[in-house]
Amino acid sequence: MNLPWDLKVNQEGNLEFGGCDLVLLAEQYKTPLYVMNEDLVRKNARRYLRSLRSSYPNSDVAYACKAFMTTWILNIMREEGLWLDVVSGGELYTAIKAGFPGEKILFHGNNKSLEEMEMGIAANVGRFVVDNYYEIETLDRLAQKAGREVDVLIRIAPGVKAETHKYIETGTDDSKFGFGISKGQGLKPLEKVLSSKNLSFQGFHSHIGSQILKLEGPILAAQRMVEFIAQVRNLFHVEVRELNLGGGLGIRYTPNDDPPSIETYVNAISETVKASCEELSVPLPKLYLEPGRSIVGEAGLTLYTVGSIKEIPGIKTYVYVDGGMVDNLRPALYEAVYTALPAKLLDNLSEPPRYVCVAGKCCESGDILIEQCSLPPLKPGDVLAVLSTGAYNYSMSSNYNGLPRPEIVAVSKGRSRTIVRRETYADLACRDVFLADLKSTVFLKTDR
Ligand code: LLP
Repeated sequence: MNLPWDLKVNQEGNLEFGGCDLVLLAEQYKTPLYVMNEDLVRKNARRYLRSLRSSYPNSDVAYACKAFMTTWILNIMREEGLWLDVVSGGELYTAIKAGFPGEKILFHGNNKSLEEMEMGIAANVGRFVVDNYYEIETLDRLAQKAGREVDVLIRIAPGVKAETHKYIETGTDDSKFGFGISKGQGLKPLEKVLSSKNLSFQGFHSHIGSQILKLEGPILAAQRMVEFIAQVRNLFHVEVRELNLGGGLGIRYTPNDDPPSIETYVNAISETVKASCEELSVPLPKLYLEPGRSIVGEAGLTLYTVGSIKEIPGIKTYVYVDGGMVDNLRPALYEAVYTALPAKLLDNLSEPPRYVCVAGKCCESGDILIEQCSLPPLKPGDVLAVLSTGAYNYSMSSNYNGLPRPEIVAVSKGRSRTIVRRETYADLACRDVFLADLKSTVFLKTDR
């Protein structure tokens, strides 16, 4: 059997990830359990940095921590020399708490609050990626108050389709993110930034979408952005020092997915930027890439325990697991398709596989993890591994139906350790203000 996800089968016939037996991990830590492979995460981060720097030396890679954010990963990214993309006060807070250097943080967000901007200035973030006029004006004012200049990139929607699910497409003219350029709107925010006393214009940013499996979109976006830089130079005689082309490289969720490798993707972008700059006589800007999913996605999997199995004769067989849309919202939200394997692999392979539907335990008919997949016969208590869950699973998890979030363990070379503890029932109620005696409750007046 072809096991592409850095999985192995050990002598017991069990799947191993990061050298750890998945049946034993499920026993030791209980399920549902997120498992993150530390060596794979580090390897992917290094592949990005190495391939980008070797073809384009004046460059940096920022990890988009919305894909998976814990202090563990922030520490890894700091150690590996990456920058960080944050999109909120919460992500910024966690990054600073984890000791991430502020000057290597890019602060994104299409609607940063005043408090978030103040936090970013106080944390001395390396770049604010400004997304709208309100932000430009407010940031200028706050920077003046703080008594120093703030470095900014302007977010541009280059009018390029990403060929992905429409919910995760961000670079078209009607995008909610950034300033479109197809009708010249990109020049006005630049004028505004250039005329602000306390903002220092560094360059442009664009990100056209996520889970992109073809190179055409990213290549076209890179060309458009360099053309835009040339236009800006001709009109404003201003130096555009930096170009950030965002993230977006897709991963394998099923054996049918065939994304370009990190190296192929990075090379295609950097060569395009170099060629376009040469053609238009634009000095090479510093280049940033901002991957999230392609660093952590395939480095994670989720273990579930099978509960009951319901056969509806002639219709379908449901295999229910002890998690669901609470720990993986992606199938319900984006119709994402995943791959599942029994953790006790060889034991189960002796009997012919059947088509089943892997469903979660939430009170929603849409709580389906895998609509149809072929699995060997399973019984209650068996452990199922769903692959490629390292990105946008934990970070989009919820407590719907009162389900506590799973524990997260990191595995490396046959060893495992908890990096986020399992939520408890007490955690679920810990922020509630407990009103024991409702009659004595005092309602506060809302008038001034
Ligand atoms: N930079 C910016 C400005 C972004 O908005 C994103 C993702 C990234 C970088 C990283 O993109 P990646 O390399 O991970 O594709 N929840 C969705 C994905 C949303 C992506 C949001 N932005 C999902 O589960 O598919």
